[in-house]
Amino acid sequence: MNTEPLRVTVIGTGYLGATHAVCMAILGYDVLGVDVDREKIAELSAGRVPFFEPGLDEKLREALGSDRIRFTADFDEAARFGDIHFVCVGTPQQEGSNAAELAYVESAFRELATRIDRKALLVGKSTVPVGTAQRLTEMVHDVSPAGDELELAWNPEFLREGFAVEDTLHPDRLVFGVTSEWAEQQLRAVFRPILDEDTPLVVADLATAELVKVAANSFLATKISYINAMAEVCEATGADVDLLATALSYDDRIGGRFLKPGLGFGGGCLPKDIRAFRHRAEELGIGQSVAFLGEVDAINIRRRERTVDLVRELAGGDLTGVRVAALGAAFKPNSDDVRDAPALDVARLLYLEGAHVVVYDPEANANAHRAYPDLDYVDSLGDATDGAEVVVLLTEWDEFRSADPGLLGHIVAQRRIVDARHALDAERYRAAGWEYRALGRPDGAGAAQLTPHEKDVLTPPS
Ligand code: UGA
Repeated sequence: MNTEPLRVTVIGTGYLGATHAVCMAILGYDVLGVDVDREKIAELSAGRVPFFEPGLDEKLREALGSDRIRFTADFDEAARFGDIHFVCVGTPQQEGSNAAELAYVESAFRELATRIDRKALLVGKSTVPVGTAQRLTEMVHDVSPAGDELELAWNPEFLREGFAVEDTLHPDRLVFGVTSEWAEQQLRAVFRPILDEDTPLVVADLATAELVKVAANSFLATKISYINAMAEVCEATGADVDLLATALSYDDRIGGRFLKPGLGFGGGCLPKDIRAFRHRAEELGIGQSVAFLGEVDAINIRRRERTVDLVRELAGGDLTGVRVAALGAAFKPNSDDVRDAPALDVARLLYLEGAHVVVYDPEANANAHRAYPDLDYVDSLGDATDGAEVVVLLTEWDEFRSADPGLLGHIVAQRRIVDARHALDAERYRAAGWEYRALGRPDGAGAAQLTPHEKDVLTPPS
């Protein structure tokens, strides 16, 4: 039996792939990271992560220092090198459709398969519509010189941005979608250090493994939209959604995570995954089964419009020429990702209504500027709030949570704030003379307040 350590290739060095490649090297494997983007390859080879992810830079440099990782754009080299090939390329939403774009996944599998002439395992980690792995298996067997000796498995990834390294090295669970004992053994071998930590493992067929990922993200999105739907009910009745969420969260069956009301979900995963899931279900003739995800999406998008309504209301009914400080652009804190970011979308909508929007995000300004060059971007909280007539908190970075309302009050033109993320201490702001508003919370000064403990229960770790 071959006792050489497994050689691992990772195709696609974006968020998921770069993290997976680095973590595989940290676990002791020889790793080759592969990408068609030569700029990315150059950055990673020089020890620089081309996106913001706390802790990943150090891990990359550690892996490079131990000579366990290299990066290349050469698929021939990848095909020769790997015993296991992980495919981690993106599956974004297609232009003009809810479907996932599978061109990159298909191309990665094809490029590898046509070059591999010995027994090896191709493992998909990208999020794909159910049925894709089966289709790719047939294609791979068809085009590869190795024929059926080239096997395919699916191993969905559940990492969160901002916690990518931790989630990869210490996941809640592992899921292996396999069609043979050999494929399962290969995956068990490569994930041995993680399995040895008693990480739960689910071994499944390909379709179930594909579905776990979209089902998980759909569930999380539904939970967020559920509490935001309750916020709408609170808005109509004068009830307080933060107190409601707290009371719900004490029920262990419900739990407080992903029950934080506010501006809703965004990013490169949850929004496109629920849309692609609906699209796939319709293709399968079972659209009705997940039709509710359309409502989940609609509730989520309404949060953005309602946040704009609140800013307009505070501004006196008309946003034309009103200086608004937009605090945050990233889809969540500890990330520079602005894909489908609710924060940036609100800033854009305010701008479209004629407001003078000044955006500040501690990490995402550059990406936001690329997406919406028309908005004004500044490099500090002070510059953003200077002379502001309304402040709107859109991404709950610690820097914003910990800002002193008294000091801020001296910088702004008007003490008016919309806390779109329910992240600030309303009482402190009101005591410092601010008009404080949050969706789903009564606007009067006498509104009930959460204790610090109640806030902790609801504050997700991401
Ligand atoms: C999400 C999943 O949590 C990961 O398990 C999954 O691997 C990943 O998608 C993916 O498919 O690759 P991520 O997009 O990094 O991870 O971010 P989350 O922490 O899930 O947050 C998603 C959005 O929900 C953010 O915009 C966040 O602000 C929002 N959110 C989260 C709320 O509005 N309320 C909450 O209570 C929690």
